[in-house]
This record gives sequence, structure tokens and C-alpha cells, in this order.
Amino acid sequence: MARVLVIGVGQIGSELGPALVEQGHEVVLADRLPPEETAGWDVLQKGLGADGVRKRWHRLDVSDTPALTGLLRELRPDVTYHLAALLSATGEKNPDLCWRINVDTTREVISTLSSFNAAVAPRLVVPSSIAAFGPLPGEEIPAVTPDLYPMMPTSMYGITKVAGELLGAYAAAKQNVDFRGLRFPGLLNTAPPGGGSSDFANMMYFAAAAGKHEVEVFCRPDTRIPFMYMPDAVKAIIEVAMAPAARLSRRTYNVAAMSPSAADIAAALRARVGRFDVRYVPDFRQAILDSWPRALEDSPARADWDWKPTWDLESMTDDLLAQLGWNKPA
Ligand code: SER
Repeated sequence: MARVLVIGVGQIGSELGPALVEQGHEVVLADRLPPEETAGWDVLQKGLGADGVRKRWHRLDVSDTPALTGLLRELRPDVTYHLAALLSATGEKNPDLCWRINVDTTREVISTLSSFNAAVAPRLVVPSSIAAFGPLPGEEIPAVTPDLYPMMPTSMYGITKVAGELLGAYAAAKQNVDFRGLRFPGLLNTAPPGGGSSDFANMMYFAAAAGKHEVEVFCRPDTRIPFMYMPDAVKAIIEVAMAPAARLSRRTYNVAAMSPSAADIAAALRARVGRFDVRYVPDFRQAILDSWPRALEDSPARADWDWKPTWDLESMTDDLLAQLGWNKPA
């Protein structure tokens, strides 16, 4: 059993928190909002019950540095999952805030954990993203992008993710903080994400499950990026957190599951719900999506900590529609 702190309980944290409790860990969930006001409240309640959520909840604004470092000092967690972040679309609208929340708070967490001078280095897990990649000048990004490819992100969110990866590698080498990270694809579950460029897929699932026959999305039909179903994402983040340090050949890993185009997702939904017309109206998020890998190469994660995804587009679509309460016609 470990003492675990989850900072930022949003789309990922609302499924990760209950999974960690299920594994027998002592878990504190820290978020800016009261639990009832978070996007993941339904998911959290389903996992832990309303009282189970409330008794583990700690209100924390991560930009309040004394509150953030004070909570870390009070809890001295064995494992910290730092998930508080602005995503790519919100980050473009407010790049300074994106840097402050995504990078400055990561630095504060690292220096506080480092200051413990613990005999066993505390673990820190910070997710990175496909957004950490971008095309080299005058080139297309490789369709299947490996772990070790020059990182030239075009969004502020991507820049903060690369900075987080580098701070983490430095913390692991020099600051007695056992940092682990992974580059997630766009993630899908029943909790709405907050301001990502991959949200077009989530919007399609939410619309189809609500019985709508039409939806408008902000990308082209041929847009293809990596996606992952949340149960696989939770599995991956716990596996990388728990992997024996001796097996790690790097501090941040690509993880992949599926790479459907927007039109593929629409077709998978249409095959289940019947008429489902998608209007494709690209906006500023299209350029962000076009700068990302179409697929991730994840053989180091497979070799070092036995990563293997469970869900593909078909199985995810069946399960997610059911989780979202879609009533299959008899
Ligand atoms: N889902 C994220 C976003 O769209 C990518 O990590 O910003």
C-alpha cells in the first residue's frame, strides 16, 4: 500500500483515483473545485460513492504555491500524480496561464519532493501528450512517430509538455525524485475533457449516445490522430508508475492504442446508432491536430514495462456508448 496524491481530478483523475483506491492505496484527491462541480463527478461517485469521494477530497488551487507545497509536506506521498493542466485548445487562448499551471506547478512539486531528501525517492508521474511532437521545419511529422524524435511542438500546451518531460528527466537524474511520464493519445471516457483539440471525438460519442442524428465538429473528416480508451490510459499510467526503476530505459514513454480518422469514428458510430450526420467545420484546432503524429510507435513501453493496450475502436465504441447510457434499439 502506498500513500498516493492525485493533483487535478478531471477527465483522467476521476477514473485513476477510484482505480488506485481499488488497488488498496491510501489516496488523497486534490482539486480546485468541490467534487460535485468537477466534470468527472458522475464517474467518481460511481467508483467511490459520494462519501468515499468527499472523505478523500482536498480543495487545492495549484497556482497557490504555499497551498500546493504545504499539502505535499503534510502528506509526504510515496507517489504523486500531477494531472492539473490546461489542454491544447484552452492553452492557445491563454498561453501564459498554460505555462504557469503546466510548468511552474510541476517545478514546485519537484522541488518540494526533492527537499524531503527521502531514503526512497518519492515517485512523481506527470502525463505528457502527442502534443509534445510537431513537424520539423519543411517536413511532415512521421506518420508513426517514435519515442526519440526531435520535439518541435507548435502549441503552447505542447511546449509545456516537453518542458515537463525535461524537468522530470532532470529531477530523476539529479534531484532524488523518481519521475515517470507517458505521452498519451487523445483520451475518451464518459467524463468530458476540458478544452483539448482531440475533443472532436468525445463530442461525436456524446452526441451519438444522446440519440442525436447530427453533430458539428471542428476538424476535417481525414483528421487522424492517436486515441486511447480511458481504462487503457489508467492501466498505462499505473503501470509506468509502478514499474521497477531498473527496467526503465527513459523517463517518458509513448503509449499507443488506436489511430482512427474522424470519418472512421463517425462510421463506427453510424454502424451502431444508424443515421449520424457529421458536419465538418474546421477551426483553429485543425492546425494543432495536423501538427500531431498520426500514430505513436510505443515499442520501448512494450519492452520496458510490458505495455499492451486492451481496447480498439470497435470494442471501445460498444463499451463507451453503453457507459454513456445509449439505448440500443430492441
Ligand atoms: N487531448 C489533449 C488535447 O487535445 C492532447 O493531449 O489537448
